[in-house]
Amino acid sequence: MAIVCKSANEIEKMRRSGHIVRQLLDHLKAMVAPGVTTMDLERAAEAKIKELGAKPAFKGYYDYPCVLCTSVNEEIVHGIPSEKRVLNEGDIVSIDCGVVLDGYYGDAAITVPVGNGLKPEIKKLLDVTEASLYRGIEQARIGNSVGDVGAAVQQHVEAAGFSVVREFVGHGIGTRLHEEPQVPNYGARGHGARLREGMVLAIEPMVNFGKPETRVLGDKWTAVTADGSFSAHFEHCVAVTKDGPVILTQ
Ligand code: MF3
Ligand code: CO
Repeated sequence: MAIVCKSANEIEKMRRSGHIVRQLLDHLKAMVAPGVTTMDLERAAEAKIKELGAKPAFKGYYDYPCVLCTSVNEEIVHGIPSEKRVLNEGDIVSIDCGVVLDGYYGDAAITVPVGNGLKPEIKKLLDVTEASLYRGIEQARIGNSVGDVGAAVQQHVEAAGFSVVREFVGHGIGTRLHEEPQVPNYGARGHGARLREGMVLAIEPMVNFGKPETRVLGDKWTAVTADGSFSAHFEHCVAVTKDGPVILTQ
């Protein structure tokens, strides 16, 4: 499959699904507190997606069971919401949410501290990961390459002493959740697919406090850091336009 470029009209539709994802994440972020379970977030998300007239993108995708991915502490991505997973003071939780509206997908993620007991070095992990996303977005320009995006993310993360995950990557997005190209959070400037007008990329740095290695738990979904260190994840969908990068999930 080739990379699909979107018309201005299609990008407008993706802005609408992106806006729904942002409303959901804002709503869920406000719910995060000690004692809340990740299943509480899942239920709230399912109700809100319905209320906003969209459909969940993740549930049933490769048999994934939920509308959210909720990844706590050393979990990197694809954590499955559970009644048993109670959030505690000092935890961090990545909330990743996708929807489809009128045939077009939106996908975004944030990582949120639970309560006020966040360690300063973990606060730095969150700040650096989010800033690395914006470094990547800044490179999403006509004539640049996918490698420019990855290199910008990687450089920012590694300069702060953290590491980028290799086994999971960002992606093109449009009438499917995952389209070409893959968008790694590492790379070399000038390498990889050229960016053209109308491409839409889901850029999603996954950053480990310690080493970059990962493993997947027995549930076949939850990716965790091999060394048990905390991991953060932020994601936006970004259109490559004549006017530069346009964030669709805000
Ligand atoms: N946001 C993630 C991604 O872009 C989660 C999707 S995985 C799913 O790959 F299977 F849960 F849908
Ligand atoms: Co994604």
